[in-house]
Amino acid sequence: MNILCKFAFTLAYIFMDTEIFQTLVKQFNNYPLGFEYALPLESKFKHCHSVANIAKQISEYLIPSKNLQQIIEIAALYHDIGRFEQYAKYNTFVDSKSENHAALSVKVIKENNFLSLLDTENQKIIEIAILNHNTKKINSNLTEIENLVTTVLRDADKIDILGLFSNHYADNKSDETLELNLPDIKEYNPKVVQSIISGELVDMQDVKTLNDFKLLKMSWVYDLNYEISHVLISNGKYLRTIFDSLSVKDEQTQLAFNLVDGVCEAYTN
Ligand SMILES: [Fe+2]
Repeated sequence: MNILCKFAFTLAYIFMDTEIFQTLVKQFNNYPLGFEYALPLESKFKHCHSVANIAKQISEYLIPSKNLQQIIEIAALYHDIGRFEQYAKYNTFVDSKSENHAALSVKVIKENNFLSLLDTENQKIIEIAILNHNTKKINSNLTEIENLVTTVLRDADKIDILGLFSNHYADNKSDETLELNLPDIKEYNPKVVQSIISGELVDMQDVKTLNDFKLLKMSWVYDLNYEISHVLISNGKYLRTIFDSLSVKDEQTQLAFNLVDGVCEAYTN
């Protein structure tokens, strides 16, 4: 079924006034002022805006409703708002060493009544999308519209992170907030490459080295929901830059790169 028809019946109750949209953006922009300045937090602030922009691009391509596009953009803008409290409280962005940042984002949204200008249905859609943005699998009980907002957010988040990784390695930098302090040695876990060759997402449990982590990011192309997302990754040449930064480039890693790159390339023609 054409996606435009598929969502047409659900659009009736989706409404967001432009003034409300601007207020929600302003609220988000003011929120970090309550925290002591830190460069990693500035990066997260930029990431949220960037994910919102990418989500806007994807949704403009997918759906005609301006109001639904704005719901998606707000979900994307607020998706990591819990990162500020997480960093202030635990001095880390690693969820396993602190708490689930998606749940924290929803907690922050509720405590600050950030979405109170929206009706409860729209609030629920945004909160569900945020709660599902960092899970391995999307909750299978979502409504079509919740699933749409969630999948666009997940794709936009992955695209921005791949872009950040790619820029980071193009500049030959090292950043522990991006790399999780993994050993930068000339090794990789064969299980990681095998997952990619089998067309599967790499499991975080198999990540032992920085090379494994880079390969895991590359495997994200298997978890994209929309053609346009593959095209955006292909246009940015993110996979090539990340692959070039691997400290081991052998037949196996080359094959893994060719496969994920081919998946994105296939959508560009
Ligand atoms: Fe996140």
